[in-house]
Amino acid sequence: MTPARRLHPATDESVLKRAFSCFPSGVVAVCRIADDGRTPIGMSASAFTTVSLDPPLVSVCVRNGSSTWPTLQSPTASLGVSVFASHQGEICRRMAGPPDGRFEGVHPIVGESGAVFVPGASAHLQCSVFDEVPAGDHVVVLLRIEALRSDPAVEPLVFHASSFRALEARRAGV
Ligand SMILES: Cc1cc2nc3c(=O)[nH]c(=O)nc-3n(C[C@H](O)[C@H](O)[C@H](O)COP(=O)(O)O)c2cc1C
Repeated sequence: MTPARRLHPATDESVLKRAFSCFPSGVVAVCRIADDGRTPIGMSASAFTTVSLDPPLVSVCVRNGSSTWPTLQSPTASLGVSVFASHQGEICRRMAGPPDGRFEGVHPIVGESGAVFVPGASAHLQCSVFDEVPAGDHVVVLLRIEALRSDPAVEPLVFHASSFRALEARRAGV
C-alpha cells in the first residue's frame, strides 16, 4: 500500500485554495448593459458549472464581496455568459480588473435583451437569474438559459493552478 501524505486541516485558506486550483475549469464572462442603457458591465468567473438540461441551467459562484455582481443581478435582467476561447486570456484578466477598463479592446455584442457577449467566445448563453443560493463566502447563482449559440471547434480557455492553459486532444469523442 502507498503511504498517504499527511492531510491538512481545511481551516487553512491557502491550503484550500491550492487544492481548489488543482481542478481545471473553463472561464466565462457574465455581462449585460447597465441600467443606464448603454454601458457594458461584467466580470470573469471560473466557478462556472453546467447544471441541468430541463430546465436548462448553469451556475456561477460569486464572492459575497463582489461589487460587480449587485450591478449585474436583477430578477428581470438578461445576462450574457461567454465561454472564453483559448486566445482570450488577456480579455479574461481585464474583465477581472478595474471596472472602467474591463471592455478595453473588446467590441461587445449587445443583444436586444441587454445581454452582452464577448465576440470569438466558444459559447454564448443568454440567461436570466433562476435562483441564488447563499453558500458560505459565495453565492451560487443559478442561471436559466433562454437562448444560445456555440461552437465546440473553438478551443476553450482553461484555468488551472492559477494559470491559463490549453487543452490537448488525445482522441476523437469521449
Ligand atoms: C481567472 C479568473 C477567475 C475568476 N473567477 C471568479 C469566480 O468564479 N467568482 C468570483 O466571484 N470572482 C471570480 N474572479 C474575480 C472577478 O472576476 C473579479 O475580479 C472580482 O469579482 C472583483 O471585482 P468586483 O468587485 O468588481 O466583483 C475571477 C478572476 C479571474 C482572473
